[in-house]
Amino acid sequence: MKIRQARMGDAGRIHYLVNLYAGREQMLPRTMLSIYENIRDFQVAVNDDDDSMVIGCSALHFTWIDMAEIRSLAVDEAAAGTGIGRALVEANIEEARTQGIVQVYAFTYVTGFFARLGFRVVPHESMPRKVWMDCITCPKFNCCDETAMVLDLIEGRQPEPFDLAQVSIPVVKIEGRPAGRDVPGGHELHQVAEDLEQSATTRHTRPLRLERRESNEE
Ligand SMILES: CC(C)(COP(=O)(O)OP(=O)(O)OC[C@H]1O[C@@H](n2cnc3c(N)ncnc32)[C@H](O)[C@@H]1OP(=O)(O)O)[C@@H](O)C(=O)NCCC(=O)NCCS
Repeated sequence: MKIRQARMGDAGRIHYLVNLYAGREQMLPRTMLSIYENIRDFQVAVNDDDDSMVIGCSALHFTWIDMAEIRSLAVDEAAAGTGIGRALVEANIEEARTQGIVQVYAFTYVTGFFARLGFRVVPHESMPRKVWMDCITCPKFNCCDETAMVLDLIEGRQPEPFDLAQVSIPVVKIEGRPAGRDVPGGHELHQVAEDLEQSATTRHTRPLRLERRESNEE
């Protein structure tokens, strides 16, 4: 087995692996478009004798000057338990170090796996707002039950504070509020919803309205 940077030709296998586990609710799904757009995020594990046979994948996605998320980690069931998951995440971490990243994080159900690699559990509330910017497009926005885990890469340093003004805010009008202030991160989600609305107002953006057009309208 070896780890290499993903190529466009790997996208189909990445899509298959990720969505296999997503179908079992073990991770979040990815579309082909999001894989194509982010193919440079991915490392893949391939067989020694067949460089095109992807048996695992993992993505490192930069979310701030000093933070990056490890996401879409999936290992073929037939090859699980042989160190491929570890090798993939270590490749992500290595890449993060070369970029001067201070902290990598993951939202996960496999806390034991990430703990083996040195990650620690943190409250959702402690994560930078950028996480919540991603969360707004997540099907689990209302009911996130994943565990947030982080790994510090530079001793004595923490990521710089998140600056909402430097983020492009989706032009949306949030009707109502996400339910469940009492779920983990629920309170934070409410705050982000308010921040988003405030930002949309101050930037004079127009709320997105999805209206059904009558058939005789242009
Ligand atoms: C979780 C997953 C990536 C692990 O990959 P893997 O190649 O089987 O893991 P490895 O063999 O590299 O294991 C590394 C270490 O983690 C441990 N480990 C692996 N899976 C674990 C799990 N589910 N829970 C706790 N520990 C686990 C191993 O025992 C090993 O420990 P060791 O270093 O002491 O020997 C893989 O099982 C998978 O694809 N699962 C389904 C998708 C998923 O849950 N992805 C994570 C989304 S965040």
